[in-house]
Amino acid sequence: MNGMPVWLVSRYDEVRECLSNPALSPPAAFAAEHGQVSPLSGLFEDTVIGSNPPTHTRLRQPLTKVFNMRRVDQLRPRIQEITDSLLDEIAADGSADLVQMLAVPLPLLVICELLGIPTTAQDQIHHQAQAMLASGFDPDAIAASQAAAAELSAYMADLTEQKRRVPGNDLISDLVVASEEERLSQRELVAACRALVIAGYELTSGFIGNAIHSLLSRPEVAAELRERPEIDLRGVDELLRHDGPGQFNVRFVNVDFAIGGADMRPGDQVLLDLEAANTDPSRYVDGTELDLTRDSAMHVQFGYGIHFCVGAPLARVEGQIAIETLFRRFPDIELAKPADEVGRNLNPFQRSLSELPVRFSPRA
Ligand code: HEM
Repeated sequence: MNGMPVWLVSRYDEVRECLSNPALSPPAAFAAEHGQVSPLSGLFEDTVIGSNPPTHTRLRQPLTKVFNMRRVDQLRPRIQEITDSLLDEIAADGSADLVQMLAVPLPLLVICELLGIPTTAQDQIHHQAQAMLASGFDPDAIAASQAAAAELSAYMADLTEQKRRVPGNDLISDLVVASEEERLSQRELVAACRALVIAGYELTSGFIGNAIHSLLSRPEVAAELRERPEIDLRGVDELLRHDGPGQFNVRFVNVDFAIGGADMRPGDQVLLDLEAANTDPSRYVDGTELDLTRDSAMHVQFGYGIHFCVGAPLARVEGQIAIETLFRRFPDIELAKPADEVGRNLNPFQRSLSELPVRFSPRA
């Protein structure tokens, strides 16, 4: 990776150890502390996801207030409304690409509304976020990703200034107040807004697409949902464990660190294979099988330790509402292509679909 060797960690216990041990740092934190810049370090510099304590603790605090389960439960009616209006658009057609019509727009609309980003900017945000995350290991794509990151930062810098002048009832306005109280620098403010859009929608959209694909490609599971269109949060977590959108997390080694028979040295790069950990046979019996009754709450799709995903409650609820509403409104929904021919995005860090063609009986 980046022309350098990399350790690949794939067992559940060791992945959790690497995610939570302060001997390893996220790329941006490592770059800030040791000056070793990597293509990925730029994406999340000055953010919660790219910092170590005590900076991490300070940057995380304003976010945990907003994304806890109680606040997210209050968002349910609005998430339901957005989901219904997206499904209204396809109801009469009897067919749709659910990536374009549901999985991408739902989390994008939700996070933009939470942050206070105007609807007119959402297309542009979507393209910039995709360019930022499409980098993989290719140098041209990395350059394109950095250019998109700079554009998104410029947009967020303007937006934070607007919110400073005319505050709204939204997360960016809250973060502007935090910056005025000197809990956040101007750079951290802009970086937080940029990171929240990216973190808030791209992975959730991958998750919703993967989850619906998993359900529709298993006739017996789909039949149960048609009968009773309900999925509890345990089922949502099992869908995340079984085919989550995150393939790898990256870490850099700060100090000599021994794990799983490997002696890692300062500056080494480490890829944590979340998918492999989530199907590790020593942790999950028949882990490659989907079992909606399994207790998989401790999966590592949301990470582990101090960087555990702040948006996990929101992502779970969005997935739950999308699945339940889809099966309630279109009980005979089915894939319009064989499950293994559905297109996937080519991105080494993410597992997501490029399309999800479905058909169902048209409704007025
Ligand atoms: C299914 C959807 C999602 C997945 C799979 C996911 C996954 C993750 C993972 C693996 C991490 C840890 C990264 C690391 O340790 O390097 C993380 C952190 C984070 N996620 Fe998510 N995420 C999702 C949705 C969201 C949403 C909806 C938001 C916000 C609105 C969000 C905001 C964040 C933030 C701010 C962090 C950084 C937390 C910290 O460093 O303390 N994520 N996410």
